[in-house]
Amino acid sequence: MSDQAWSGRRPWPSSETEGLAIQARAIAPPEYTEAYLFQCQYLDLDPWSAFLARIARHPDLYLVALAGNRVVGVCYGSLSPEREGWATLEGIAVDLGTARGYARKGIGTRLLRTFEKAVLAKGAVALGVGSAEDPGVERFYFKNGFHPVELVAKGQSREELARVAATDYREGCALRAGLKERYHAHEVIWIFEKRLGD
Ligand SMILES: CC(C)(COP(=O)(O)OP(=O)(O)OC[C@H]1O[C@@H](n2cnc3c(N)ncnc32)[C@H](O)[C@@H]1OP(=O)(O)O)[C@@H](O)C(=O)NCCC(=O)NCCS
Repeated sequence: MSDQAWSGRRPWPSSETEGLAIQARAIAPPEYTEAYLFQCQYLDLDPWSAFLARIARHPDLYLVALAGNRVVGVCYGSLSPEREGWATLEGIAVDLGTARGYARKGIGTRLLRTFEKAVLAKGAVALGVGSAEDPGVERFYFKNGFHPVELVAKGQSREELARVAATDYREGCALRAGLKERYHAHEVIWIFEKRLGD
């Protein structure tokens, strides 16, 4: 089965996903508006110009998952200017609207794999991501081969308040509570990393 087109795992039937091939590929201009609105709903609330700049920087590193011609997922990132051989996953999201039933069908994993292949092709050997503060999302990264490296406490405007090394998830979760209290942090997120091509 190719990475470009596949049918979701569909652990339960859904009138909208049943029999529908989903594609994961680099974004094309007809999808810009829909992907932009999707990105703003789930991830970064960029101005339109910043969204276009993301795509212009690395056109093959802004991916969409499509059900027919409807955008049901996005995934984007960049090559790190500071760490040679490293890429950063800046955003990944799948349509979680329960009526549509696209969650937990492997779409996020497929987007991530397609993204990993794209950055590998550009010479990256490792990938980093700042996870959303959500146990389900953290589990998604574990399931996809990432390991924890740091905790970052952030303020209301997403400014960084503190950064501490943490490689044990359980211990880190206890540390996280302490960091939240100490820095009055709005959120404390995990940084996960993964070697590519293993
Ligand atoms: C994270 C996200 C992209 C996962 O997409 P998805 O297509 O539902 O994920 P997959 O079906 O590929 O999940 C793969 C595995 O990850 C884990 N996982 C994914 N979502 C999970 C959840 N909500 N709770 C627990 N585990 C979860 C499971 O182990 C899952 O395998 P399983 O379903 O066979 O048990 C999606 O939940 C999402 O868009 N979240 C909102 C946006 C967001 O916070 N993005 C992350 C920004 S850092």
